[in-house]
Amino acid sequence: MNIGVVGTGYVGLVQGVILSEFGMNVICMDVDEGKIDMLKRGKIPIYEPGLKELLDKNVQAKRLRFTTDMKETTENSDVIFIAVGTPPKEDGSADLQYVLQVAEDIAKNMNGYKVVGNKSTVPVGTGKLVQKTIKSILDKRGMNYEFDVVSNPEFLREGKAVKDCLTPDRVVIGTESDKAREIMKNVYDVLYINQTPFVFTNIETAEMIKYASNAFLAVKISYINEMALLSEKVGADVQEIARAMGMDERISPKFLQAGPGFGGSCFPKDTKAIVDIGKKYGEDMIVIEAAIKANEKQKQKMVEKIVNNVGEQGSLEGRTIGVLGLSFKPETDDMREAPSIDIIEGLVKAGAKIQSYCPQGMKEAKWRLEHLGNSVKYTSNEYEAAKEANAIVIMTEWYQFREMNLEKIKENMKDRYLFDLRNIYSKREKLVSDFKYFGVGN
Ligand code: UGA
Repeated sequence: MNIGVVGTGYVGLVQGVILSEFGMNVICMDVDEGKIDMLKRGKIPIYEPGLKELLDKNVQAKRLRFTTDMKETTENSDVIFIAVGTPPKEDGSADLQYVLQVAEDIAKNMNGYKVVGNKSTVPVGTGKLVQKTIKSILDKRGMNYEFDVVSNPEFLREGKAVKDCLTPDRVVIGTESDKAREIMKNVYDVLYINQTPFVFTNIETAEMIKYASNAFLAVKISYINEMALLSEKVGADVQEIARAMGMDERISPKFLQAGPGFGGSCFPKDTKAIVDIGKKYGEDMIVIEAAIKANEKQKQKMVEKIVNNVGEQGSLEGRTIGVLGLSFKPETDDMREAPSIDIIEGLVKAGAKIQSYCPQGMKEAKWRLEHLGNSVKYTSNEYEAAKEANAIVIMTEWYQFREMNLEKIKENMKDRYLFDLRNIYSKREKLVSDFKYFGVGN
């Protein structure tokens, strides 16, 4: 089967590569010529473990190619996936301009029956809007081509995207058309045969499943973070609490890691978007609104923790803080809504100088933190970031920070404050006994 994937961001590129791995003929299309040029040269514009190997393999097998040409993509595809961004607008609602632009472009180039699969996270009702948009352009063209719109949300996690796409927990397919449902089954034939659970439903339900899942996980994180704040006050250990809670199968141990707050391109955006959808339909999303508020509070609490312990009278003037990890989570270069941004801003505002290091995030961080000028320096490893520092902050749990030489870190530092915002050393008391150690919720 021939597949077109429009948008070569995290979702589109990974899905395109994986579908080619599943044996489909895939064209990945993007309007960004620079990106497509890179991909044609075998270079990947994002950092995602395992992706390069699969991309090379499938390009060589001639199942995967890249283009900026929408006509070529539409004409040569039976199924076209929309996988472009839906960034938040000022008011938190999802900006649909890119999704609708792709719908228009598909309609302008349509040459026969097509399934239009939507992978971008979009508000309920967008599937129908895409349908209307395509229909109205076909009418203008005086063409009567048949087509079906399917909502097929994506649940991949950055950093684990390849694995998540190869072995998803479920595949959600929202459509009212039997023909499109059968075609989608064929697209995911490999997974279908492997007994991956499939959920067939209508478009609106599929669209809601995506928001409901992400918002639930965000609530879960804010919940455990709130427990962490209280644990610190009452002398409890949030990791033990999470472990015991997770033993209850109804709760599950996943996504119960207390930390500096959730970030990334999905949870912050999707929680705001579903609150906005609620408003439009006259329903207050009280629980999700609280999770968003708790997340903002969590980041500020991290700043307070550092200022109160390392600073004097609320000031970090003259203090140097080494920050390890800038990306919103390990194994990615993505800095979108990373907690490091707000926390570093807070520390700089309190007068601190920052020496940062991140295995992949520094290129992104340099422009996202440009407004902080000379207050933020970028170093070439964790030991340099610790040099003459009064404190170090483990912001993201990259593997290399779990196994770093703490003796060397200690020797490099001026004072020995260690803020472990991911609790990676909290159960290794011996290792950190010479530090003034602070975790989250213990
Ligand atoms: C998230 C979802 O997990 C995916 O299922 C979904 O497909 C994706 O959004 C999306 O909508 O595209 P992602 O944003 O890549 O994936 O990252 P996660 O691994 O979910 O982490 C999100 C944030 O939560 C990170 O800042 C992470 O540090 C934080 N987190 C996660 C915690 O603080 N504690 C946890 O226990 C888990």
